[in-house]
Amino acid sequence: MPASFRLLQPADLRPRNTFGVAASARRLVEVDDIAALPQALQSLGGTRPLVMGGGSNLLFAGDADDVLAIADTRRSVVSDDGERVVVRAAAGADWHGFVLWTLAQDLGGLENLALIPGTVGAAPIQNIGAYGVEVGERVVAVEAFDQDTGRVVRLDAAACGFAYRDSVFKRAPERWIVTAVEFELQRFAAPVLDYAGLRGTLAARGIDDPRPLDVAEAVIDIRRSKLPDPAVIGNAGSFFKNPIVPAAQAAALVAAHAGIPVFAVDAGLRKLSAAWLIDRCGWKGHRDGDAGVAAGHALVLVNHGDARGDELLGLARRIAASVQMRFGVGLEPEPRIVGARW
Ligand code: EPU
Repeated sequence: MPASFRLLQPADLRPRNTFGVAASARRLVEVDDIAALPQALQSLGGTRPLVMGGGSNLLFAGDADDVLAIADTRRSVVSDDGERVVVRAAAGADWHGFVLWTLAQDLGGLENLALIPGTVGAAPIQNIGAYGVEVGERVVAVEAFDQDTGRVVRLDAAACGFAYRDSVFKRAPERWIVTAVEFELQRFAAPVLDYAGLRGTLAARGIDDPRPLDVAEAVIDIRRSKLPDPAVIGNAGSFFKNPIVPAAQAAALVAAHAGIPVFAVDAGLRKLSAAWLIDRCGWKGHRDGDAGVAAGHALVLVNHGDARGDELLGLARRIAASVQMRFGVGLEPEPRIVGARW
């Protein structure tokens, strides 16, 4: 039988993180077949590795010790009743490639999440979201290896504890290794078009009754116009989460700062736009050496070439401190930071 995992020691992590910062792992085990996961973990002698997907939501502020990457990319249709279709993909499948595969079958549900970098396995961990849809709304179940018990378990969507850019997996990263995800998609679902700009982009293309692929193409256009391509300039998408504050604090901010965007979360909470707050503090396009803020979007930190992870982290801290000072609002990073604490 061919080996179904590989051990590299050491491993260069620079090509494996979309920030493109220099870092290495003492050991890296890459698992081609999820069935080999227990053996692969044993090869590390029982230490709990850092689990990596596409490296698109990570900042290496230092080197890593043991790293595990799942390279199993299999995907399949689990069931199809003519309307609702359950599809499944192993954790290592490329997210955007998987979305395109569902769209090629004219299945609706993931089109608003087109072009997000990363893997299927990473998607539920931070509950990726864009243009009015969060992936947790489409998840039927996540299969994950529980390092506390050594067993693979199946968690239904409720057990995943999805919240804004959050889940049980993100809250206990030492415990869970996501191995596969199942999604419920629809053949005739109404598209979600409420996010600013989406209807306009479709109208400009002369489309008034969009299929899922049309929506994805509009989303891809909007993303390309706003967000820097990690293949061209290193970045990890939004570096900060949009802060959620009590409604009274949001009302005070609206009174003090004309034009501040505020979004309702529930009766007592409001979501603010981190990009707007950072922009108003003058950071858009700012550059300290090779660490910078994208010229087109204030929420995205970029590596202009050889920025180190700790330099990007230092810039992020200065940005957060200035937002705290001017608006009294704390910012939390969205990517996982390795080798330092926020
Ligand atoms: N804005 C500015 N300056 C900027 C950019 C934006 O003032 O440089 C203001 C504008 O008022 C704009 C508002 O911020 O209306 C919101 O901007 P945008 O629509 O780009 O959305 P976002 O809140 O910055 C979030 C997600 C993105 C996702 C988009 C679209 C988070 C942290 N980010 O960004 O997700 O693509 O909405 O749904 O929730 C990611 O998580 O990595 C990511 C890119």
